[in-house]
Amino acid sequence: MNRSLGVLISGRGSNLQAIVDAIAAGTLDARVAVVISNRADAPGLERARRAGIETEYLSHRAYPSREEYDRVLVEHLRARDVGLVCLAGFMRLLSPVFIQAFPNAILNIHPSLLPAFPGLDAQHQAWAHGVKLAGATVHLVDCDLDAGPIVLQCAVPVLEDDTPDSLSARILAEEHRLYPEAIRRLLAGGWRIEGRRFRPGPRPA
Ligand code: GRF
Repeated sequence: MNRSLGVLISGRGSNLQAIVDAIAAGTLDARVAVVISNRADAPGLERARRAGIETEYLSHRAYPSREEYDRVLVEHLRARDVGLVCLAGFMRLLSPVFIQAFPNAILNIHPSLLPAFPGLDAQHQAWAHGVKLAGATVHLVDCDLDAGPIVLQCAVPVLEDDTPDSLSARILAEEHRLYPEAIRRLLAGGWRIEGRRFRPGPRPA
């Protein structure tokens, strides 16, 4: 698999940072070809610049429809020969135009044990529901929200005195471990999709 990543962000970019750090540490064999944000003020853009990564600000407001915007996103990613798209806090729904341009080559990280608590503010949803185990999921992206085949998950305990913020912080620390690992598994190849199931290939030596 082509090891050039395109990372899409809208905000803080701490998962982007975890990917960049894993590459720098030599634990993830990949390169970030471009970071694209739909928001000019996303702090993640600065993180990318500091790491010497090319950045783009592409505002969705400049395009008449979701499909038009997605077409332009695809062009920008293809221009850098991106093989795997990593959504890292990208707050936009992607249309079939985008999904079909990168079949089984778009990853997303979501801060819950999917299929529980899809959508916005998943950590708060989990806390408010009173679950005892929360977590994070990295999944392939298909046309449904937070619903594609699950590549990796990890569980995070909810403690008695947790607030939504303290729970979010504990989940985020796990996200930063999980996302580079999921990318590693995908790039290792040898995997297949069976129904909803992601079947990993043999573990690299
Ligand atoms: C993370 O919690 C991620 O799971 C969700 O959006 C948040 C992005 O955080 N999709 P960051 O921008 O990577 O710090």
